Order: sequence, then C-alpha cells, then structure tokens
Amino acid sequence: MFKLIKLSLILTLAIAAPSVVASQYAIGTNASKAEIAGWDIDIRPDGQGLPVGSGSVADGEILYEEKCASCHGVFGEGEGRWPVLAGGMDTLTEDRPEKTVGSYWPYVSTLWDYIHRAMPFLQPQSLDDDEVYALTAYVLYLNELVEEEFVLSDNNFAVVALPNQGAFQDDPRPDTNNVRCMKNCRDPESVKVIQDSTALGVTPVDHLKPEGSVQADEPLLGEETYIAACGLCHDAGIAGAPSVTDKAVWSKRIEQGLGVLYDHAVNGYQGTDGVMPAKGGNASLEDKAVKAAVDHMVDLVNQ
Ligand code: HEC
Ligand code: HEC
Repeated sequence: MFKLIKLSLILTLAIAAPSVVASQYAIGTNASKAEIAGWDIDIRPDGQGLPVGSGSVADGEILYEEKCASCHGVFGEGEGRWPVLAGGMDTLTEDRPEKTVGSYWPYVSTLWDYIHRAMPFLQPQSLDDDEVYALTAYVLYLNELVEEEFVLSDNNFAVVALPNQGAFQDDPRPDTNNVRCMKNCRDPESVKVIQDSTALGVTPVDHLKPEGSVQADEPLLGEETYIAACGLCHDAGIAGAPSVTDKAVWSKRIEQGLGVLYDHAVNGYQGTDGVMPAKGGNASLEDKAVKAAVDHMVDLVNQ
C-alpha cells in the first residue's frame, strides 16, 4: 500500500512538476514572460542581454544636456557634489584617485546598464533603448574613448574596451572557509583577531579617542607594550592586578579618567588591591608607550 502511494506521488510530481506547488499550497502564480522580461534587464560585458538598437554621440549630446548636465556637469565634471562622469585618467594610484566611468569602470555594459536602470536620478527607467545607447556613446565621448561621429549599437558594443578593464580580477576566494558542521564544531572563542584595519592605520580612529589620549601615530605601540610589560599581571589578574577581562572592575577605574590611569601606570601607586609598579616595573619604557598600553587596555576592556 505504502509503495503504491509513493509511486503515484512520484508520477504526479513528474508529470505536473511546475504546477504541483501552486495547486498544493494555493499560493503564487507562474511568472509570465512579460514579468520576467521586466526583471531580466542585466547586460553582460560581451553585450549579451542588450536590446536591438543604436544611438549616436550627437544625439547623446542633446539628451545629455537636457537630462543629465544639471547634475553631472556639461563636460561630466559633476556639478557641486554630484558624481563626476569623465576624466580622472591615471589617478587611481594617487592619494585621491578620481574614479569615473573612464578612469575606473571595467565595462561599457556597466555604463549602459546603470543609465538604463537608474538615470536620470529622479526619473529612473524613463529612457528608451536608443536614448540609452546615445547617452552611453556620449559619456564614452566625454571620456575621450570614442570619436565625435561614433554610433553605438548592439552590433558594435564589444569594440569599445574601457582602459581599466585589465585591472579587475576574478575573486576566486570562497565566500567562507568554514566547514559545515552540526557537532564538534570549532569553538568560535578559539579564533583570535590578530589584525584589523584600525591597527593597520587604514581606518582613522584618532578622532574617536577621548581627549588627551595618546594619538595612534604608532598603531601597534600600545598592544606591543601591553604584551611585553603588562599582560603578565593584567591578563589574568595576578598579584591584585585587575584583569582586563573584568569589565565591572575596570569601568569604575576608567571613570576616573585617562589622566589618572596614565599617571598611575607611569608613576605607579599603592592601591587597595595591591601595588601597581611604575611602568609595570619596566623603567626603560617611554611614558608614551605606557600610555599607549593603557589605551590598549581600555580597548580590551571595551571589547
Ligand atoms: C538629479 C541629479 C541627476 C541627474 C539629472 C542625473 N544623474 Fe546620474 N547620478 C546622480 C547620482 C546622485 C548618482 C549616484 C547614485 C548613487 O551612487 O547611488 C548618479 C550616478 C550616475 C552614474 C554612475 C557614476 C559613478 O561613477 O558611479 C552615471 C553613469 C550616471 N549617473 C549617468 C547619468 C546620465 C546619463 C544622466 C542623464 C540621463 C544622469 N545621470 C542624470 C544624479 C543625477
Ligand atoms: C607586577 C604586576 C603588574 C604589572 C606588570 C603591571 N601592573 Fe598595572 N596594576 C597592578 C596592580 C596590582 C594594580 C591595582 C592596584 C590597585 O588599584 O590596588 C594595577 C592597576 C593598573 C591600572 C589601574 C589604575 C587605576 O587607577 O585604577 C592601570 C591603568 C595599569 N595597572 C596599567 C598598567 C600598565 C600600562 C602596565 C604595563 C606597562 C601594567 N599596569 C603592568 C599590577 C601590575
């Protein structure tokens, strides 16, 4: 009996696979061709997905001045703080690279798609396909990548290569290196963050530090000093030293203000829990290093 039911179920699924779900749960309908076409608007770098059509630089110029220049500037230079669309060639390795369609973008398809999908900013998807071709051609012209007489179409789309295309690379990394697991999984606590953008100096944080704190011109100074001269007592809390894992105890100490903590760390003091030796007993340390170590301790406590 059981076998029979199973067999009939398989038959139903095989014969009527797409509609089974809809009829079984009575929700949803199959997407129509028109609905799919409405979403399926992406263009591949080789032009796959492009509609048939064309547009000239000359037509693009008229459209651009009417619909785009008010924000992006007559020459693509950007009005006020609206995005710059042209120029910036060879600036990518400078301190302040100017990333534009011409200097930075990888493919013309990205430009066609962006304009088609999102521009003009206040009337997205209001342009017809030939207008998008013409505007794409004109933005390429503003970047000196095509001639004044150029006409862009679905047929010659692949002939224009953007200068920076070669600098883009496929990212072969997997999304995650973790192995799926349901038991005996790795303890997340066992993973220690050993570097971050703040310590590398990539993300500026000086402005977030409390007033009067040692500035992070040597980002690793505090951590290194702490490991070398302070962790011995303050990691676990040896000899009365407050452990940096003890938030409750530290929040009271931090409330005294960094000035007091710096003073006590540099000059040492006798407290109610024990003796904090000056510079942790390491007289050769510079005051700056000891203060940076205190900053690091406060960071550890706040983690
Ligand atoms: C009202 C102002 C405005 C108008 C008009 C406008 N844009 Fe934009 N455009 C923007 C803004 C804002 C962005 C950035 C949007 C974002 O980053 O989310 C942008 C981004 C772009 C970009 C991507 C730039 C980059 O490097 O990221 C292109 C290309 C572009 N617009 C083309 C056009 C074209 C072509 C027109 C005319 C059909 C147009 N825009 C009209 C405001 C405007
Ligand atoms: C030999 C153990 C020892 C070493 C090494 C040590 N400390 Fe301490 N530290 C203590 C003790 C004990 C206290 C608690 C004193 C008290 O308040 O009773 C303390 C307290 C502190 C406080 C809190 C001060 C306050 O006012 O609450 C700071 C900040 C501090 N240490 C920084 C450092 C730094 C920075 C280093 C390394 C340069 C360091 N300590 C090395 C033992 C040590």
